[in-house]
Amino acid sequence: MKVLVHAVCLLPFLKLIMLYRSGALGLMADPVLYITLLTGYWTLYLLITSLAVTPVRRLHPKLGNLIRFRRLLGLYAFFYATLHLSTYLFLFSGYDLPTVWAGLRAGHLSAISDQWRAVWPTILDDLKKRRFIQVGLFAWTLLLALTVTSPAFVMRWMGGKAWRRVHYAVYVAALAGCVHYWWLVKKGVREPLPFTLVLAVLLLARMILAANKRLRRPTPVAGILG
Ligand code: HEM
Repeated sequence: MKVLVHAVCLLPFLKLIMLYRSGALGLMADPVLYITLLTGYWTLYLLITSLAVTPVRRLHPKLGNLIRFRRLLGLYAFFYATLHLSTYLFLFSGYDLPTVWAGLRAGHLSAISDQWRAVWPTILDDLKKRRFIQVGLFAWTLLLALTVTSPAFVMRWMGGKAWRRVHYAVYVAALAGCVHYWWLVKKGVREPLPFTLVLAVLLLARMILAANKRLRRPTPVAGILG
């Protein structure tokens, strides 16, 4: 099952590499937009799937094992979010990768920073003007924090309760991802709606599960009485 999950999650990335190597990506009308959309959608799919794990596994005892995939799906969501952000930084922004590559081959390491200096003002300007970029970056920062704190030894170090509290931020990240989507589409476009509805259902399910758990927990008096 784990191999299957890895295969499905890597499929879009491998598709991108194959399209690039075959030259088909370069022949597209807008290759940068294609990569941006593919990586953006897969970030959302994987984030939402990882959030679906907890409610789905409660549906049947046999589904309990699904928990093993939650972290993996979350890590892949971060992987695609980082590709998405990198597409913005290195392709969308006007960062001239071929020039940097030529500079590096000629032994000029400074080619990297020269290009950065050239595109930095545009990126900063975009960040100031476009709120969909701000909220997207906020979502990515949350995913980064969740990824860094995801290993088992960090969980042990933080303590289970604190770790779980921090990791509720995955809902905020998914919500910010949806807001990013709503804010970048034109007025009247309803495409982000299905993602938002699924997220709302998952949030509701999580709240119901938490409330149920609290109700089933024995009160101190009941505990004393046995
Ligand atoms: C968890 C974080 C994020 C998610 C889930 C996400 C998701 C998406 C999705 C689904 C789209 C496609 C929307 C469409 O069909 O038009 C998109 C587009 C885009 N995103 Fe993100 N994104 C995230 C973070 C970011 C960040 C950090 C940046 C840049 C700093 C960014 C920049 C863009 C841009 C430039 C587009 C294309 C806009 C256009 O259509 O021209 N995103 N994103």
